[in-house]
Amino acid sequence: MAKISQRTIDEIYASMKIEEVVGDFVSLKRQGSGYVGICPFHDDRNPSMHVTPRLGIYKCFVCDAKGNAINFLMEHEKITYPEALEYLAKKYSITIEYERPETDVEREQRTERESLYLVNEFAEKFFIDQLHNTEEGQLMGMSYFKERGFKDSTIEQFHLGYCPEAWDTFTKEALRQGYQEDFLLKLGLTHKTANGKLYDFYRGRVIFPIHNVSGKVIGFGGRVLKKDEKTAKYYNSPENEIYHKRETLYDIYLAKKAIRAADNIYLVEGYTDVISMFESGIENVVASSGTSLTEEQIHILSRQSKNITVLYDGDRAGIKASLRGIDLLLNKGMNVKVCLLPDGEDPDSFAKKHRDSELKEYLEQNTTDFLLFKAQILSEEAGHDPVKRAAMVSDMLKSIAGIQDNIVRAFYVKECSRLFNLPEETLNNELRRVVWANMRSAKGSSSSTPAETSQAVDPFPHITITSPKQETTHDNKLYESEKNLLLLLLQHGCYEIYIEQDGEKQPVRIDQYICDELFNDQITLKSPVLARTFDSYVKSAELLKDQNAIQRALLMSEDEEVRNFVMENLPTEIPKVSANWKERFEILVSSTHDNVMLLQQEVQNVLLNLKLRIVEETISYIESQLKQPDLEEADTELLLGYMCELLQTRKTISTLLNRTAS
Ligand code: CTP
Ligand code: MN
Repeated sequence: MAKISQRTIDEIYASMKIEEVVGDFVSLKRQGSGYVGICPFHDDRNPSMHVTPRLGIYKCFVCDAKGNAINFLMEHEKITYPEALEYLAKKYSITIEYERPETDVEREQRTERESLYLVNEFAEKFFIDQLHNTEEGQLMGMSYFKERGFKDSTIEQFHLGYCPEAWDTFTKEALRQGYQEDFLLKLGLTHKTANGKLYDFYRGRVIFPIHNVSGKVIGFGGRVLKKDEKTAKYYNSPENEIYHKRETLYDIYLAKKAIRAADNIYLVEGYTDVISMFESGIENVVASSGTSLTEEQIHILSRQSKNITVLYDGDRAGIKASLRGIDLLLNKGMNVKVCLLPDGEDPDSFAKKHRDSELKEYLEQNTTDFLLFKAQILSEEAGHDPVKRAAMVSDMLKSIAGIQDNIVRAFYVKECSRLFNLPEETLNNELRRVVWANMRSAKGSSSSTPAETSQAVDPFPHITITSPKQETTHDNKLYESEKNLLLLLLQHGCYEIYIEQDGEKQPVRIDQYICDELFNDQITLKSPVLARTFDSYVKSAELLKDQNAIQRALLMSEDEEVRNFVMENLPTEIPKVSANWKERFEILVSSTHDNVMLLQQEVQNVLLNLKLRIVEETISYIESQLKQPDLEEADTELLLGYMCELLQTRKTISTLLNRTAS
């Protein structure tokens, strides 16, 4: 590629603003003198990416992605340095000056990806030109769009086009202009017959170009004009280096702005649904193009907004099949709603038949919560068949277990209890089992990266910190805290304490309470033996309600280390957790009430101690990071910020600990 002049480069550097560039792809929130957002370079849930305008940099504290606006573009859009410069020049209306014109050799040296983008860009322009400026385009393509009711402005905004009917009008022109046959074939624009003749794949079709998040053409959909055509209604681009169906969302580029503004995404099925909604004034709409949503698509969407409304056609076919894909949305922390259209309508037909205001009103009034919608569908389907109903409950609980927010989870349990006519407690017990099963399998599957999976310290919900990287011999204090927790479970896990809920004291089993607390703070035990003992405890406690029975079960564990730990630590006669505890326990066996009070205190103590150790471990980790010689100013600033919060948390926990101890 011809070299961009230094003058242009300087101008670009002077104009680019990190928050504006990152802000094109990531929704940023102000924080202090900078911004934070969900990091697009890893599966981020809390905003871990910090953008510092003063230094012109971004930095993710979890995955360590960092750099300036150009690095961001290269990394995020998978483009080269010159392409990033071009992007910025376009964004800031800077005219690019080249040092000298591009030579043929340079042209050939462009990477394949760059070439593919160029070919697609050419094709898009060609199809647009055919639609607007040829007789056939007007007669066939334009009249089709008009028949569908598309406005001129829409046709322009969506870059709609037309590919002539003749055998190879497009291919001939592309080859004449020097675009390589290889690339045309790879992109699926051109096909080859058995005897080697090239022809236009989309001939005689109207063209819907597909763009990526940054507006580049990555593929095409081509629709036949006549209803009774024997071939497929739509032809779509094949997978290639730049078109990945799994990552593609139709209209994401145009919809981006509206999605940010509305903080909601409407998800529909196809091109025509998107365009009709858009014409009715609803611009925050994208299509998954037929397939059910993929993780990649959700990843892209969740960077724009956490709220999504899935629009369903009125005929219920396919709803059940798509429920799974929607569970995936929940798992990724999205808030999902659904809207069912009247019988026989799809978004396209409905939008066409109704005034803009009617469509808006319909969407507002008929959008319901996804899980409740799913519960209804499943419930209707299962009827009174007990086996089907059991399967339905377990299906629902799997969905609910994916929800991150505890309060929201509790709400759904309540609703399901009502809908399925089952006690909340039964659902909660089952849910706990599913949640733990998920956590266990999550732990197992990513064990290759211990740094990320060991306990996530989260006393400060808006910040995510990876815990200390090296998993050395366990810090004795942490080990002791974890051990105390297990001893408490082994001896008193089945006992009940009273926990304040909604202003009322409710009886809760100690083991359930501890599980909830650990789960809420996403704490997992670090010592392998203790962690396995804990897992075994949870499994036994699900089945057995009696402390002695649980102990016996653990003593028969298949895991020798678990067996030994339990054997060594089970009280033979009286509890021997700590001198302190023993004393208190003995004094107060006589009074049940005080006994409960003490147990309650002990539970709090043990939990707080464990949390305190984790916070302290993180503090020393940050201290060690701060000592790194090549630390940048922005990093130091951020680390110090975390440190402040951690110290504050440590203080809070210590105060609480002193209170329970006294
Ligand atoms: N679709 C597709 N491939 C097909 C059929 C459909 O990709 N073979 C997608 C398209 O994105 C289309 C959407 O599914 O916009 C809805 O399909 P359909 O309603 O059949 O397409 P329309 O073009 O709206 O046709 P019609 O006018 O008959 O409703
Ligand atoms: Mn349709």
